[in-house]
Amino acid sequence: MVRRDPGFRTDREVGRALLEANWLRPETAAWRLMDALLLRRVKLPDPVLDLGCGDGLFSFIAIGRGRMGLDHDSYSGLGKFTDSSDIYNSGRSTSKTKVTKRPRHRITGVDHKQNLLDQAASLQYYERLVRHDLNKDLPFEDGSFGSIFSNTFYWIKKNAGLARECRRILRPGGRMAVFVPNKRFVRNLILASVPSRWHWARFLDNGMYESIGQNIPPSWRGLFTRAGFEIESHTRYMSDRFVKFHNIGTRSYSRYMIQWANRMGTTERRKMKRQVVSDILPAITSYLEYESRTDSPGCFEMFVLRNPS
Ligand SMILES: C[S@@+](CC[C@H](N)C(=O)[O-])C[C@H]1O[C@@H](n2cnc3c(N)ncnc32)[C@H](O)[C@@H]1O
Repeated sequence: MVRRDPGFRTDREVGRALLEANWLRPETAAWRLMDALLLRRVKLPDPVLDLGCGDGLFSFIAIGRGRMGLDHDSYSGLGKFTDSSDIYNSGRSTSKTKVTKRPRHRITGVDHKQNLLDQAASLQYYERLVRHDLNKDLPFEDGSFGSIFSNTFYWIKKNAGLARECRRILRPGGRMAVFVPNKRFVRNLILASVPSRWHWARFLDNGMYESIGQNIPPSWRGLFTRAGFEIESHTRYMSDRFVKFHNIGTRSYSRYMIQWANRMGTTERRKMKRQVVSDILPAITSYLEYESRTDSPGCFEMFVLRNPS
């Protein structure tokens, strides 16, 4: 049975931590907060595998309930990236991070980008970080994890193979939580209705239509069931309107803001970040309440899956 999300009751502490991590892309903070609020309903037994961990901040905050000092965020170590649509391809420093609340979890992270894994390592949260292409078989023994979290399946071409591999490495009774977009998400992107010869549309979309549209199967439910999973719960969330806001948002402009922010001195950067968080957190809280009242069928889906044997 598909469940429509019954409503996002915001947790201010988690909202603040996610906005501090994503302060130069508030619409991403709002998205991550929706994910975190859904994920906290799910028990993820140790040892946990974080597939496509990126810079680790989402899992650190949402799964580990960790908190970091004000100077560490998703942009603090980024260098120049004017030649790439993916800001996370740019170099990163691994300056010492101040962790103010340490999570208690045995967690392994996997990603294909070394610069992101370096950033994740600076959180001192992951027991193990592995560089690996998720289109290939996973480098772990059968039944070695109690649970898996991933918001990365839609980036992976061979995602049916990845689902089978996930089942193999989960213990019997182990659980997997995944977040995936559906075709409705893609239909709400600018380039789904504006021809790509329009430069403005390509500029605002910033590579999203092409990268997300390609790997969505006709049915995620079918894909996970065929891999041998049982579906514990299936929740749709995220309105058409949110996808449209996000697709315009600050994404194409944030590359400049990140460079400006990283040229500020530490004191000035902190002051600016505090102000952004104090002004924008109430707007995100209010938006999530509004989002809960829309009756869109949902452009994203959370599956909680169980390995039956
Ligand atoms: C949507 S981001 C999620 C990152 C992180 N989990 C978060 O919530 O912030 C997708 C992640 O998948 C990683 N990724 C994409 N394709 C991959 C591949 N073929 N193999 C391994 N990681 C991949 C990217 O580097 C990125 O960190």
